[in-house]
Amino acid sequence: MSKNAKALAAAIHAQAGDAPVSVGMILGSGLGHIADSVDGVAIPYSDLPGFPHAGVSGHNPNLVIGDLEGQRVAVFGGRAHYYENGRADAMRLPLEVLAELGADTMLATNAAGSMQSDMPTGSIMNLHDHINFSGLNPLIGEQTDKRFVPMKDCYDPAIRAELSAAAQAAGVQMHSGVYAWYSGPSFETPAEIKAIKMLGADAVGMSTVPEVILARFLGLKAAAISCITNMAAGMSDENISHDHTKAMAPQGAAKIETVLRQWLRDKSS
Ligand code: HPA
Repeated sequence: MSKNAKALAAAIHAQAGDAPVSVGMILGSGLGHIADSVDGVAIPYSDLPGFPHAGVSGHNPNLVIGDLEGQRVAVFGGRAHYYENGRADAMRLPLEVLAELGADTMLATNAAGSMQSDMPTGSIMNLHDHINFSGLNPLIGEQTDKRFVPMKDCYDPAIRAELSAAAQAAGVQMHSGVYAWYSGPSFETPAEIKAIKMLGADAVGMSTVPEVILARFLGLKAAAISCITNMAAGMSDENISHDHTKAMAPQGAAKIETVLRQWLRDKSS
């Protein structure tokens, strides 16, 4: 682990207490309010040198450490995306810090466009695999052999099953599907969406994949849930925009919060 991550983890422990974190959660566009439910300490990213200046509206750039449904969590209220600065490894330091805080699991959430007509706006999707449609990788430049990370079952099968059980117990419909990472920041063309759909993806977005690669690299179990904010380009007459993403996120966000709370409660019981 980098010296920087160790120093940041020590500074975070000094503010938030020494109890180890069990789960880290990264919140996507329009999902940042989940951090408000945590009973704990909020540390602005600007107080954590090397953390991203989460420069995307709809994100909440604080790290919140505290208790949620009986579990010690670290909630990253915002993320850095590749499209902000051309760095696919922009979330490496925050994830190193998460591992250093004792977490064994990273759960990412994101806003995404749907390629499946039976998964409309307002749906949520538990990722069971992804397609790296960007061709980018956060481990390019890593010098050690640890860079050759196996990616089969990178969305932890046991956690996926726990999340499905939690959704069922809470009465929330949650789809399961394949997420494609598109670099952004422009949205996809209808032809790109047709192509990605043919390749086997069910939803598309601009994040999460680099974080899952980094999490596996760091030995963290990974899981992710998409909040469908629109039908992907060409699939409907909807106008796709970032404002639309933010406006539609609350529908799915409420479902994601319900599932996550149930999942954490189940872990605690
Ligand atoms: N494409 C890419 N990213 C997204 C979309 C989309 O349609 N919706 C929300 N994030």
